[in-house]
Order: sequence, then structure tokens, then C-alpha cells
Amino acid sequence: MRTPRTKRGRCASPEILSVRLAPHVVLEANPSGELVTRFQSHSFSLGKFSARIADRAQKLHSGLQFSSFASGRDKEFHLLIRRLAGHGLTEYHLGHPRNGEDLVVIEPQVSDYWPRTITIRDTDVLVLSRFAYMRRRGNEMVLESPRAGALFKICNPKIATALAIFSRPQQIRRLPRQDPFPWTKLLALLVDCEILFKLKTPNDSGLRLTEGDDNLVLWDFHDLLFHTRSTEGRHANPLGGLYSYARAISSPPAVRPSWPGKKIALSKFSAEQSEIISPFARLLRQRHSTRNFDDQRPITLEELSLFLDGTARILSEGTSKLGFGDNGPSITYASRPYPSAGACYELELYIAVDKCEDLARGFYHYEASEHALVPIEARSSQLEAMLMRAAFAMGAPAVPQILITVAARFARVSWKYSAIAYELILKDVGALMQTFYLTATDMGLGGCAIGIVNIDLFAKMTGIEFHVEGPVGQFAIGRGIRSETGPPLL
Ligand SMILES: Cc1cc2nc3c(=O)[nH]c(=O)nc-3n(C[C@H](O)[C@H](O)[C@H](O)COP(=O)(O)O)c2cc1C
Repeated sequence: MRTPRTKRGRCASPEILSVRLAPHVVLEANPSGELVTRFQSHSFSLGKFSARIADRAQKLHSGLQFSSFASGRDKEFHLLIRRLAGHGLTEYHLGHPRNGEDLVVIEPQVSDYWPRTITIRDTDVLVLSRFAYMRRRGNEMVLESPRAGALFKICNPKIATALAIFSRPQQIRRLPRQDPFPWTKLLALLVDCEILFKLKTPNDSGLRLTEGDDNLVLWDFHDLLFHTRSTEGRHANPLGGLYSYARAISSPPAVRPSWPGKKIALSKFSAEQSEIISPFARLLRQRHSTRNFDDQRPITLEELSLFLDGTARILSEGTSKLGFGDNGPSITYASRPYPSAGACYELELYIAVDKCEDLARGFYHYEASEHALVPIEARSSQLEAMLMRAAFAMGAPAVPQILITVAARFARVSWKYSAIAYELILKDVGALMQTFYLTATDMGLGGCAIGIVNIDLFAKMTGIEFHVEGPVGQFAIGRGIRSETGPPLL
């Protein structure tokens, strides 16, 4: 499998990595020197570049050797590639050193992916990550991992076969020799993406307890995959309300067709009875989503405090011992107004403030035990991006006054539950969302749940790795515009 050695024992590495524009991307130069990229229905400017760069950039349609610019000596060209890569518009081809045939195509999945060649020594022992998997995509075979910054399209089946050996730890020097093939480079790129990892000591098993930190150990494979693929930020697949199969499959009906059998009619509340139904039942009927907010009369800090107090403040704390005998571990509990699976209460609230009377614009963590807000130093461009994404998800003309990001401390649940941890977390989010909705309605505020959240942006704003604590839901609140109508009231 190894490439030929030089006299000094290192692997000779002919240049086989090239960068290309992703297949759907077109790059054009305006007469003014501005480089514009077009893909699908989008187009945007990458900035002004010299004629030399515009000319060289055209080579990106067919491919350009990675080493020819990666050193950064040509600063202007390097800047252009970094900009393209930052928008996920490039891909990287690993070619056969003899005939240039594509062996692997690397497709970035995170916005700042940049291929790094990790040094691989003969003494290193590598093994596949338990999160790595290979699957059919269309008529291709792809190697992926929810941890990886990029996906590897395997163009030659021999590579898929050869990688199978890494289901057990393998020392590089003991690998069987193969044809001239950029094996070391591929392994280095796979280690960089955490699809393969190096064992800390040669005798490690490479099993679950030896891969990553304690937080990672607690994740089940399907849960981490579900989290990264059902949110935004760590994959490049289309997502959201795309109606992808609307032409092929008709919409399932809003109301399920009846079961056969004799119906037993149930009594219901009528409009005339509305004065006798309980205040809570009325609250339920009044609840609706509000996406437009009155920025002339923003929500106040006092209202936000009451909202958080009513929905998420810690009401009591306690400790209990796990029934593993005298030395069993202790667990601390902190109950809040909404129900939570196993009383784990893993959900944390992060508050992005655009407009709030008596509270500065910024990003805060809600400390549920102290009932206090703690500012988090996030870049204002990141705060803006978070608020803009929420406005986009709501189809709203302006950003919400307050955006609550619900983040989960995943390990709090997965320490106890196997196989069902992530779905329990999402159910907890549902319980919290309804608590938000009802409290907002009760307080005369407007609110709206948001279904798409960017986990990479949150990781950048907080500096917390995505597998440790990350967003699982968002909720916008503020003073709703009165004209917005909800469903008819009782
Ligand atoms: C899990 C969840 C995700 C939602 N995501 C969005 C969203 O991204 N954008 C949006 O405008 N509304 C979103 N909503 C609000 C729904 O569109 C809304 O609840 C639904 O249309 C019913 O309207 P109502 O809440 O006014 O009764 C979401 C609601 C839930 C429960």
C-alpha cells in the first residue's frame, strides 16, 4: 500500500492533490476586475483581483495542483482560493500519480475545510473511527463521518477494499505494499478528517474508550450522525422545506383516513361555552406563532426575566446515589418548570439580543440556577449571522428582538441512556418549546419556534466543540405586531 521510499526512508510524494471548482460552480471575471461566482440560482462577488489572477482562476474549472499555491507565496491567488473554499465552492482531487485518474474526490462539508496533510510515520498505528461509514450515494461510493470536515468520494473500488484493513489497528510499516498509489497522502487526509485516528500507544485497542474525549465516548454512532445531518453547518446536503419529491409523490393528507368501525362521538367545547372553559384551555387556543415584531416597542429586560423565570429557572436542586452499592456514583438534579426525560435537564439557553429595553445587544448564557445572564464574547458578525438566519427561517422581514438558542449538554443524557439519548433530547426540546409558546402567550408576547439551526456557527461563537454542547432548537420572542393574526380564537 505504501508509495516508493526515498533513501532517507520517507515516502516519495509526487504531487497528486489538485483543487477544482465544485461541478455546479462557474467563475467569471467582470471587465472591472471583479470575480463573480455563479451556482444554481445564486451569484456573488469574491472581490476585485488582478487580470493575472482572473486568468489563473479559470484553471480551477479543470484543476490546479494544490502545492502550486498552498504555500501562500502567491498571496492574491491564495486569498481567492480561501474565499472560494470558505463558501464551500471547491473540491479536492487525489489523482493516480501515473495517469492522473481520479482516485478520491474530497468534498468539503464544513465552510472552512482546508486539506491538511498530517505527518504519518512508519511507526504510527492507525485505525478507523467508529463514526466512519461508507455508503452508496446515487451511483457513487462515499466515505463519511459526522466528525469529518469533508466527505471522500471513492472513485476506485480497490481503495474501499484496501481501507477495510483499518477495522483493526494497523502499523504503517507493516501494511502490505501496493502499486504506486498516493496511499500516505490519502491516509494523512483521512487522519486530518478524523475518519482514521492515530493510537496514542501502539498497544491501544482503538476501541470506543480510546477515541476522543469523554464527551465523544458517550455518543452512539447513530445519535452523532443524526445530530450533524439534521442540523446545518456540518454537511453540504440540501435541507429544509425543499419539497424534493413533490412531483413524484403526492402530499400525505392533513387528516388521517378513518379506521373502519362505528364512531363514538365525543363532546367538544363550542364558541358559546368559551366563558366556562378554564384559563389554561383558553391559553392553549390563543397560542400561535408570531414572526413580526414591533421594534418601536421592544421587549424589556423585566419581561425577558419573567419569561425565563417562568420557563427555565431551576426550581430545586438535589443529589441522589445510583444503586450500584456503597461506591455507586452520585447524580445531581436540578428541576425546572418543564418535564425532562430522566430528569436530566440537559438543555441550556443562549440568548441572542437584537433589541431589548435595558439590555445591550449581544449574546448571553442564561444561568438557570442564579437566574442571571452572563455575556459571551461573540463577534458581532456572528451574532448578526445567527439573527439573520432566524429571520430567514421565519420568512420574516426583520430579525427577532430576542433569539433563544436551546443547546444540549449531550453527555448529561448519554451518560445514562444508550441508543435513545438524542431522540430523548429532541423530545425535551418539544416540551420546552410548548412551555415557551404558552408563557409568551400568557405574557402577551409573540414567539415562534425555528426548525433549522447552524451547529457550526454556534461552535464558533462559544468555542465549544460541537459534540460537547450544541444547539438543538431555537425560539424567537419579542413584542409581536398586533396586526399579525393567529388561528381563530374560541
Ligand atoms: C419544531 C417546530 C419547528 C418550527 N420551525 C419553524 C420555522 O423554522 N420557521 C417558522 O416560521 N415557523 C416554524 N415553526 C412554527 C410552525 O410553522 C407553526 O407552529 C405552525 O405553522 C402552526 O402555526 P401556529 O403556531 O401559529 O399555530 C415551527 C414549529 C415547530 C413546533
